[in-house]
Amino acid sequence: MIEFDGVEFRYGGGREILREVSLTIEAGGFHFLTGPSGAGKSTFLRLCRMALRPSAGRLRVFGVEAAEADADAVAALRRRIGMVFQDGRFLDHLSVFDNVALPLRIRGAPARERRAQAAELIEWVGLGARAHALPAELSGGELQRAALARAVIGAPDLIIADEPTGNVDRETAVELLSLLMALHRHGKGVLIATHDHELIRAARRETPVQVLRIEDGCVLAQGRRR
Ligand SMILES: Nc1ncnc2c1ncn2[C@@H]1O[C@H](COP(=O)(O)OP(=O)(O)O)[C@@H](O)[C@H]1O
Ligand SMILES: [Mg+2]
Repeated sequence: MIEFDGVEFRYGGGREILREVSLTIEAGGFHFLTGPSGAGKSTFLRLCRMALRPSAGRLRVFGVEAAEADADAVAALRRRIGMVFQDGRFLDHLSVFDNVALPLRIRGAPARERRAQAAELIEWVGLGARAHALPAELSGGELQRAALARAVIGAPDLIIADEPTGNVDRETAVELLSLLMALHRHGKGVLIATHDHELIRAARRETPVQVLRIEDGCVLAQGRRR
C-alpha cells in the first residue's frame, strides 16, 4: 500500500533526514513508527500522504507514484488516508460536530449524510455530550478523540496518527488505542508515530504489530511480534 524504495529526504538544501529508506507498509497492518524526538517521524508521515516528496528514490502510495502524482492524484490518495495531526488543526470558530463533518463537506457530501456520519462517529469516540462545544472548550484528550472521528469520517483505508497520545493521560491513551485497534479489526490499516513505548507494549498484548524505528535517518523494521 505504501512502498519506499531507496527514499532519501532533506528539507531544502539541509541535512539528510531520511536516507536509503526501502520498506513496504502493507494494507490492513497495524504499524508503529518510533524513534527519538527530531528523528524524522513526522517527516516520514508527511511523505506517506505526499505532503512532501522524496529528494531521491521512489515512493508509491496506493499505486500513485510520487514522481508523477499531480494535485488530483494526491487529493485522491489523501481521501484514502485519515490523518490525526499532532497539533489538532481544528477550525476554532466551528463546533466539534462541524469540524468532524468538515472533510465530507469539502467533498460535497449531502448535508443529511454529513450529519448522520458525524453524529455516529462523535458517539463512537465518546464525545456525544460535547458535540456542540468549540475546540477551545475541549481537553487535550477530548481533542484527540475529535481528531480521530474527523480522520475516520471519509471511510479511509489507512489511519495515520502523529503522536496521538503525546498530551493525554494514560487512561485516555489506552482508550484512543482501543479505538484504533477497533478500526484495525474492521480492516483499516493503522500507522502511529509515537515514542510512547508503553503504548506499543499495550498494543502488542492485543494484536501482532509491526514496529518501525527511525534512527540516524534509517528506518529499521523491528519485526512482527506479539
Ligand atoms: N519544515 C521543516 N524545514 C526544515 N527542517 C525541518 C522541517 N520540519 C522538520 N524539520 C527538521 O527535520 C528533522 C526531523 O523532524 P521531524 O520529522 O519533525 O521529527 P520527529 O517527528 O521524529 O520529532 C528535525 O531535525 C527537524 O528540525
Ligand atoms: Mg513529530
